[in-house]
Amino acid sequence: MERVLSGLRPTGRIHIGNYFGALVNWVRFQDEYRCFYEVADWHALTTMYSESRRFRELIKETVLDWLTVGIDPERSVLFVQSDVKEHAELHLLFSMLVTIPRLQRNPTIKEVVKDLHMEGKISYGLLGYPVLQASDVLIYRPQKVPIGEDQLPHLELTREIARRFNHLYGDTFPEPEPILTKTKRIPGIDGRKMSKSYGNAIYITESPEEVEKKIMQAFTDPEKIKKDDPGHPEGCVVFAYRSAIDEDGTEELENRCRAGEIGCVQCKRETSKIMNEFLDKFRKKREELKAVDIHTILKEGAEKAREFARETMQIVRERMGMWSKD
Ligand code: TRP
Ligand code: SF4
Repeated sequence: MERVLSGLRPTGRIHIGNYFGALVNWVRFQDEYRCFYEVADWHALTTMYSESRRFRELIKETVLDWLTVGIDPERSVLFVQSDVKEHAELHLLFSMLVTIPRLQRNPTIKEVVKDLHMEGKISYGLLGYPVLQASDVLIYRPQKVPIGEDQLPHLELTREIARRFNHLYGDTFPEPEPILTKTKRIPGIDGRKMSKSYGNAIYITESPEEVEKKIMQAFTDPEKIKKDDPGHPEGCVVFAYRSAIDEDGTEELENRCRAGEIGCVQCKRETSKIMNEFLDKFRKKREELKAVDIHTILKEGAEKAREFARETMQIVRERMGMWSKD
């Protein structure tokens, strides 16, 4: 069976941007692949190093939401990155194969630095973020990596590292293919990237009232003021939500919006209703998960992940001709 690996940082509750950006594919791939899904707590540490004591709680919250959307621990391996120390060893070995200018060119780091006002304060660990990610991925030698669009530059570097390693030490790693979702990018209610830190996210287990309130505040076409003004759905947040959850109705809405046959207030009301119907299955699933033992799931997952990771590291050390006392 081919393998899949992906991960998310433990930021706590997941939002519809996470869901439509990547998790839909995580759920789908469980039927066809051997899936490894990791909580990337070391990655979270690159920016949240002073909040490490919160991670235990955040990890549990994150995994509970994964289960809520349909990730199934019976079929997939769910684990926490820091439980599999082999990732750290591979990260160290890979760190020799990447130059500092290559890491500084990474667009994601530029964005993080700007958003978090970290100019001149980039740590060694933060700069190496994509090298650690390459280790996470390649240690499971997967064929596919379902991710959000924002992660594409990291996967490009992963593939470069795989090529470089294979060239130096012999064929060891596949060059995994990134898989994006159909919707790719779901904007936050203010039109920016949906992110917990921007306060513009809709969470998958939020109450119907809260969802409606947020959608009613969402950013639409600024040129559509009156109901019968013709609208431009392409820049409209509400339209983006609608296309994600109601594929069949999208074309009709687009036509009505452009023709000025529907006003934004009515459109938002309809969209809230459809969104709440969509989220209802998660709310129900969450009820069923009340007694779930996340700790045991992650413990068993870590054991399975380690078994695989250990095997890869043995191959890696042998190919490199590294010292072994045995
Ligand atoms: N960088 C990813 C994010 O912020 C998380 C991540 C860590 C990841 N390791 C990974 C994603 C490996 C895919 C594969 O969401
Ligand atoms: Fe967006 Fe709907 Fe308003 Fe069109 S009618 S601009 S799709 S909210």
